[in-house]
Amino acid sequence: MIEIKDLHKKFGRLQVLDGVSLQIADQGIFAILGPNGSGKTTLIKSILGMVIPQKGEIYVNGQPVKGQWEYRRQINYLPQIARFPENISVTELLQMIKNLRSQPANDAELIELFGLQGHLHKKLGNLSGGTKQKVNIVLAFMFDSPIFILDEPTTGLDPVSLLRLKDLLRKEKEAGKTILITTHIMDFVETMADEIVFLLEGNIYFKGTLDELKKKSNQQDLEHAIANILAENS
Ligand SMILES: Nc1ncnc2c1ncn2[C@@H]1O[C@H](COP(=O)(O)OP(=O)(O)OP(=O)(O)O)[C@@H](O)[C@H]1O
Ligand SMILES: [Mg+2]
Repeated sequence: MIEIKDLHKKFGRLQVLDGVSLQIADQGIFAILGPNGSGKTTLIKSILGMVIPQKGEIYVNGQPVKGQWEYRRQINYLPQIARFPENISVTELLQMIKNLRSQPANDAELIELFGLQGHLHKKLGNLSGGTKQKVNIVLAFMFDSPIFILDEPTTGLDPVSLLRLKDLLRKEKEAGKTILITTHIMDFVETMADEIVFLLEGNIYFKGTLDELKKKSNQQDLEHAIANILAENS
């Protein structure tokens, strides 16, 4: 379980998170939604200890994360913007990461799933955007972990790869994993998310199921529900 209590984060004068409290239960897919700049990445990075909040507490499986790093071993993270060394190949990168972690890796299976076989010897700097994102996904999923934090894993993926990603997430969820995900693809949220957290102006505007959100906003689908919320709050 991830527990966030009264989290405040300011960058200079910009109050990005203004008292966010949130509980993420074990097992399931939790979508963090919100317009660009609403603080989704900031929230995620706070959980990972990459952003230090001014106020508030975060607990991962009951342990406070402040000043700690051991808890990170329980989390697989996919960053929104992957920065890879440009001059090494996909294989070299994967091998490097595997050498650093003495844990079994299922990269071969993931390479196959995302059709990366033909790209393994290309330099990372020469990959197309979507292919680079597939490498990002392989890195995030190749080791077993109870928690996945995925910051826009859908970026740049073609429809077939999106389906593969959905299969992968379903499999991990069935295995009992907790998956926190941000995306701007509403269809993805509609088909995958057990719960939605909607961030707006530094706070949680809504937390609940898709059906609850549609009911609350009196709309038939998520896209319209969100457009409605944004129009009402602009
Ligand atoms: N290190 C930083 N220094 C200054 N401002 C920052 C920093 N990181 C984020 N911000 C600002 O905080 C706000 C929230 O950014 P964040 O990246 O959390 O948004 P987001 O919801 O993830 O947006 P997107 O949907 O575009 O990914 C933005 O206004 C951003 O410019
Ligand atoms: Mg972001």
